[in-house]
Amino acid sequence: ARTHPFSGTHQAGITTPVQDHLHFAAFDMMARTDRDDLISLLQDWSYAAARMVAGLEVSVKGAVGGSPQAPPDDTGEALGLPAAGLTITFGFGPTLFEADGVDRYGIAAQRPAGLVRLPAFLGEDLQPALSDGDLCVQACADDPQVAVHAIRNLSRIAFGRARLRWSQLGFGRTSRTTADQQTPRNLFGYKDGTANILADDTAALDAHVWVGADDQPWLRGGSYLVARKIAMIIESWDRVRLEEQDRIIGRTKGEGAPLSAPAGREGDPPDFAALGASGKPAIDVASHVRLAHPDQNGGIQLLRRGYNYVDGNTALGKLDAGLFFLSYQRRPEDFIAVQRSLSTDAMNEYLKHLGSGLWAIPPGAAQGSFVGAPLFA
Ligand code: HEM
Repeated sequence: ARTHPFSGTHQAGITTPVQDHLHFAAFDMMARTDRDDLISLLQDWSYAAARMVAGLEVSVKGAVGGSPQAPPDDTGEALGLPAAGLTITFGFGPTLFEADGVDRYGIAAQRPAGLVRLPAFLGEDLQPALSDGDLCVQACADDPQVAVHAIRNLSRIAFGRARLRWSQLGFGRTSRTTADQQTPRNLFGYKDGTANILADDTAALDAHVWVGADDQPWLRGGSYLVARKIAMIIESWDRVRLEEQDRIIGRTKGEGAPLSAPAGREGDPPDFAALGASGKPAIDVASHVRLAHPDQNGGIQLLRRGYNYVDGNTALGKLDAGLFFLSYQRRPEDFIAVQRSLSTDAMNEYLKHLGSGLWAIPPGAAQGSFVGAPLFA
């Protein structure tokens, strides 16, 4: 069975081949907690996470090995299941460093300059109950029960120190991070993750994903994670002509070929100068692929790692569905620049951004240490 070690230079769950399921959670520290509480929480979380990603229970006693007179350490629903490629990735939000001008944990001076709430973007309708958080945990696995077990047990371990603020289940990855992974599809029916940064492209990872020497020393080798809960108005989309759907994306629905060579292959590079039969650009000026492409954004690339979601249905009998967008980048400004480019995206008519968050993702924990330890050194 596939396992990914918890410790290492970088946290797992970023370049790790994208697993099929997600449980993402944002936590807030409880009132009156101090620096020792935060450190002990990160130690306890790291210990449990290192065990769970190896397919073990959260503690040695686990679900059934402890005293019958006490609640079990592990909640038990993953007993007998393999690790299923589980990765657990931790992040620190802006409010952990300073909230209402108070430096609760003595770390305000180490806050990276870019770690602030994302600015407002056109057309968003953000819900506080789906946004932000002092801490975040991304659990990805090929078995949804394994991902949920991880978040549930980490919440339980946090008791009295941090509480769950919001969480999101995702299924059907909408990205790939290795060349041998087939490009999956999002709920618009299009291949998603074609032009992504792949795990073996170390030059692109260093240039665009891993924090370097120009940021806080404790964050070196880490990254920044942006999460956006984006509702997709799929019933309206499903009434759009195929040709128009292709125009909006900038690629063909079947193959995923760029519209500059519609009979070509998914991997063909898009040619934004090419003209179509009408004499207009073959890849429309308002298409998503054109506006998101590095050529339009000063060379910026993001590592996308999002998931589809369906949260049941609305009172109007429509699916409450969309994309839980996750991207890793070395600078928060890079996401901001691309998201601003997308302000004229033809796809926006079918989208609504409901949730948002930005977290600094510390580098991987050293063997036997805990995630984020250099922040408290
Ligand atoms: C590419 C869908 C939101 C950034 C794509 C592609 C699709 C797609 C189908 C083409 C295939 C590919 O290269 O992966 C969507 C949907 C979204 C969404 C359905 C919302 C529900 C976003 C957001 C961003 C973004 C919020 C960043 C701010 C990108 C980038 C590319 C891309 C950078 C690659 C462009 C290239 O280099 O060719 N997206 N996307 N997307 N998208 Fe999105």
